[in-house]
Amino acid sequence: MQSKIDQYTEEIKAFTAAKADELEVFRIKFLGTKGLIKDLFEEFKTVGPEEKRTFGKVLNQFKQFAEGRYNEIKESLGSGPQVKESDIDLTLPGDGFEVGSRHPLSLVRNEIIDIFKRLGFVVAEGPEIEDDWHNFSALNFPQEHPARDMQDTFFIRKGDGTDDIALRTHTSSVQVRMMENGKPPFRAIMPGRVYRNEAISARAHCFFHQVEGLYVDENVSFSDLKQTLYHFVQELYGEGTKVRFRPSYFPFTEPSAEMDISCTICKGSGCNMCKYSGWVEILGCGMVDPNVLENCGIDSKKYTGFAFGMGIERITNLKYVIRDLRLFSENDVRFLKQFTTDII
Ligand code: DAH
Repeated sequence: MQSKIDQYTEEIKAFTAAKADELEVFRIKFLGTKGLIKDLFEEFKTVGPEEKRTFGKVLNQFKQFAEGRYNEIKESLGSGPQVKESDIDLTLPGDGFEVGSRHPLSLVRNEIIDIFKRLGFVVAEGPEIEDDWHNFSALNFPQEHPARDMQDTFFIRKGDGTDDIALRTHTSSVQVRMMENGKPPFRAIMPGRVYRNEAISARAHCFFHQVEGLYVDENVSFSDLKQTLYHFVQELYGEGTKVRFRPSYFPFTEPSAEMDISCTICKGSGCNMCKYSGWVEILGCGMVDPNVLENCGIDSKKYTGFAFGMGIERITNLKYVIRDLRLFSENDVRFLKQFTTDII
């Protein structure tokens, strides 16, 4: 052991380094986790108690010596780059960097928000994990009513065995929160993610995105609803896009309707996007049911309102002719890059 220490000491004394990488080789050889000094300490474990006393000291001194030498050389090399000015070619192009692009759903969501903001709507948000009251009961879905089956729900079972917590199935729950926590008038849109217990396919997904709209004030009428949505469609899909309303049913609106627009692909002449009907459905809407207003503590004799809800994926599909919902969540950059060159 002593002879090894002597030999290494000589070697270390003689060592010099002109560059940082030479010093690094030295560090790895002597001071590294698999270096020679580590080996000596391993060997030290095996010697007898008598030798331990003498060698313990010698070994520690040797280690300090090697570390001292390393630090000394390191300092003399300095920490700046070891490059001569003449080695730098300033005419070389810089490193390029990848610029991201916005997700098509974000683009369309922002566009929808912008249109409604110009009409005086504010943006509101609510939680994705909801209770039965906000997602169903307050919206006039009675317990055990078949209307609840319109939306296949992911319920969350709590520790006590009850399951009145669920992933929200629609952004209509945010309407309730807004009305419960404020005073009319309300004029808001509520974008967000929603969840349904659906098998994933080109046409359905277990999560997707919606934008809810709510307008409550004195004297709000169905013609306000029609005019607002008509304006929205002209802004989003271009002047001349036609709209039509078909009667429908939602527990939280009365009367309820679904709104179609003239097919954005074939302009109404018939194609496979509109199943040769010339029309495509884009949203559900209606006058807020007085029961819902009352459930949220709003006087339904004094106030009326309209509401609407649309799927952002559906609006995006029609805008960009996308036929498979799964593309939105697969993170394939070849798909994602096609929609914008905007810098994030
Ligand atoms: N919440 C409905 C759904 O997810 C959409 C909807 C329909 C929202 C009519 C509304 C409305 O506000 O008035 O299918």
